[in-house]
Amino acid sequence: MNYKEFFKKEIIKTKASGFYREFVPIIRERKTFPFSYIAHEANSDGQFNSETKIWCTNDYLNMSQNEVVIEKMIDVIRKVGASSGGTRNISGTTPYHIELENKIAQFHSREKALVFNSAYLANQTSLWTLCKKIPNIQIFSDELNHASLIQGIKNAGADCHIFGHNNTMQLEKLLSQFDKSTPKLIVFESLYSMDGTKAKIGNYVELAKKYNAMTYLDEVHAVGLYGEEGKGVASECGFSDQIDIINGTLAKAVGQIGGYITGDQGIIEFIRNQAPGFIFTTSIMPAVAAAAKTSLNIIENADDLRQDIFKKANYIKSKLSEKNISYIDSESHIIPVLIGSADRSKEISKKLMEDYNIYVQPIFYPTVPKDSSRLRITVTPKHTYQDIDYLIFAISETINTKNIQRDSFSVKAKSPSFA
Ligand SMILES: Cc1ncc(COP(=O)(O)O)c(C=O)c1O
Repeated sequence: MNYKEFFKKEIIKTKASGFYREFVPIIRERKTFPFSYIAHEANSDGQFNSETKIWCTNDYLNMSQNEVVIEKMIDVIRKVGASSGGTRNISGTTPYHIELENKIAQFHSREKALVFNSAYLANQTSLWTLCKKIPNIQIFSDELNHASLIQGIKNAGADCHIFGHNNTMQLEKLLSQFDKSTPKLIVFESLYSMDGTKAKIGNYVELAKKYNAMTYLDEVHAVGLYGEEGKGVASECGFSDQIDIINGTLAKAVGQIGGYITGDQGIIEFIRNQAPGFIFTTSIMPAVAAAAKTSLNIIENADDLRQDIFKKANYIKSKLSEKNISYIDSESHIIPVLIGSADRSKEISKKLMEDYNIYVQPIFYPTVPKDSSRLRITVTPKHTYQDIDYLIFAISETINTKNIQRDSFSVKAKSPSFA
């Protein structure tokens, strides 16, 4: 086989399909955020001269740039250096890791927590472990579940039954095919990151009880923003203690890197001793663990930031509606503006950058279904109402530009309502 030719042809195919991914290297300066710089635009003196506003960060609460969090990180790096120096089993467990796991367990009012290098890894390896180690387990998975959840289930080769997005009636039908003694696991998210839709957690808990199933809930986009003290959607609706495993990230609202699962001691201990993606990898930096704990402490008292984000998100939605721009109207802080084809979303994103200094990453297949490409807008406490007005003006002008073809598309995203 000619390997070079193979890879070259595959890339040509990806480009022809319109799904080739381009990265934009940005410098999110603390002093100026959400004004940031596109790194490849430095002039010959290394100075950046184009200021671009970012509208697609997952650093929802700007915690990655929080003074107290950064000071904590620096303190710990000065004291113990950068790397943990090992896997959790071989010299890579520090008091910072243990304190963080205790903090996460307390945050979600659960017995134990386990920290991984990312939430992707936490999902993938935890689900793989449950699928592999529980004989004949039947998995029930929402059709819009994140790639990390799907990969964990797929890699293990478990029997998987997919139900329509948030369709608990269909889920019940699938569950009812198995008797009570068959092991079952329902896998779902509390807040779907590409549509902004929320799951009715109580319905899942009820079904899990009725059919003797376990539940695995991804709260990655909800932690920090929903529920009292930002403890997530399960906590918001009073079911946190009835979910078997809650998964979260340290990389979005918490502003660090890493992910976790939390639940009862038995299940967490089981995964701690069995999951390859936990056991065979160097643990997160001690400074990251310390900073994440500090960030969670701040988040618990950040009602003002949460309220600010939701007020601004609602303002954005109302302005989009005024301009007759299609978006998925959910109750969440995530605002997907619907575009259609991948090419068109790329073109609009490029134009926003070039003509208006606005950076919103286009999202397309396979992250979302084909022909439901979108601009996924997120707002942070540092964006102002003036920024929002300018964003809406720019989107409206760009979408209505004559030389950008308006797609005749029907949006296939499984979302409750469209503005
Ligand atoms: C729903 C969901 N789960 C898990 C992850 C993975 O999180 P992390 O970035 O910590 O790996 C993501 C990432 O965007 C996500 O959207």
